[in-house]
Amino acid sequence: MYTSKITGLGYYVPENVVTNDDLSKLMDTNDAWIQERTGIKERRHIKKGDGNSTSVMGVKAATIALDRAKLLPNDIDMIVFATLSPDMYFPGGGVEVQEMMGMRTIPALDVRNQCSGFIYGLSVADQFIKTGMYKNVLVIGSENHSGGLDFTTRGRNVSVIFGDGAGAAVLSRNEEGSNGILSTHLHSEGAHKNELALQGPSTAHWVPEIIAENPQENIPYYPVMNGQFVFKHAIVRFAEVIQEGLDANNLEVKDIDMLIPHQANLRISQFIQHKLKLTDDQVFNNIQKYGNTTAASIPIALTEAWEQGKIKEGDVVVLAAFGSGFTWGSAIIRW
Ligand code: UT7
Repeated sequence: MYTSKITGLGYYVPENVVTNDDLSKLMDTNDAWIQERTGIKERRHIKKGDGNSTSVMGVKAATIALDRAKLLPNDIDMIVFATLSPDMYFPGGGVEVQEMMGMRTIPALDVRNQCSGFIYGLSVADQFIKTGMYKNVLVIGSENHSGGLDFTTRGRNVSVIFGDGAGAAVLSRNEEGSNGILSTHLHSEGAHKNELALQGPSTAHWVPEIIAENPQENIPYYPVMNGQFVFKHAIVRFAEVIQEGLDANNLEVKDIDMLIPHQANLRISQFIQHKLKLTDDQVFNNIQKYGNTTAASIPIALTEAWEQGKIKEGDVVVLAAFGSGFTWGSAIIRW
């Protein structure tokens, strides 16, 4: 059986920086509250007319990743595109990437697993490579949150957290050596689907009905979150799924060279770090600059950590995510 390894990484964030003070001009919030509860100082938002969209940002990140993998678009055998904020209701972003990058008529699969989307996508790509079916798979996580958030005080517990951006990884067949993706671990618990959700527009919540039936105060086409409930589950599931991955590979917490947690909230990352007794050097966070970019957060953070020389050959790198669904997962990598 083959194994897979990451051969190229890239990320893209829009130029437009939105600070906490900028948000406090739109809603009743403030820099102190946001920093204390989430660690976020600023995030990036697409600006009208800057040409960005979820798929466009995905292509920008993917172009860098392909370049670093020393591959051309025609070398890619499959696209896996993770997002909760696609440009269109259908089709998904994968086919847009295929078109924009001028790729062959390769398969394009869209993944809808929110904050866990990148790990789900990585796992799918890993399986296709392990079976020998494909050699190079492009995995993208991209989000345009700012296009669909409630920037009034009503939506402040959600809208201050999220930011726009994209990250991408090329997963390739490992021709030699035993490094690469060691294992991936995926979970879901639909009982909590409404705790962090965007109900419509959907077939159950069609736009004309939403407008007719809902007073302006309670529009279900903005995301809603039961923050404390999500937080409590996140800290349990993060720790669980990291341990599950370590156990599967006979590794211990002390063997982790770098943990890249999904950037949901700096307090969640710090809680996990404390719980697992990891040092500051063993955990990478960049939510301070970008906010929570959902499916894009892990590939953006992984790329930055790698660019900063914080990940070296042979290192044990652990990726872990938790989010809406609930869904959660981890990936254990020997770099
Ligand atoms: O990535 C996907 C997974 N998502 C997560 O993991 C998010 C998990 N949850 C969280 O990160 C936190 O729960 C939040 C950051 C969303 C909220 O922090 P919290 O400490 O749980 O605050 P809270 O929701 O309990 O609200 C506390 C107070 C409330 O006011 P009262 O009722 O105490 O008067 C809120 O209305 O803070 C108020 N509040 C705000 N105040 C200023 C909520 N949002 C804001 C805001 N600015 N943006």
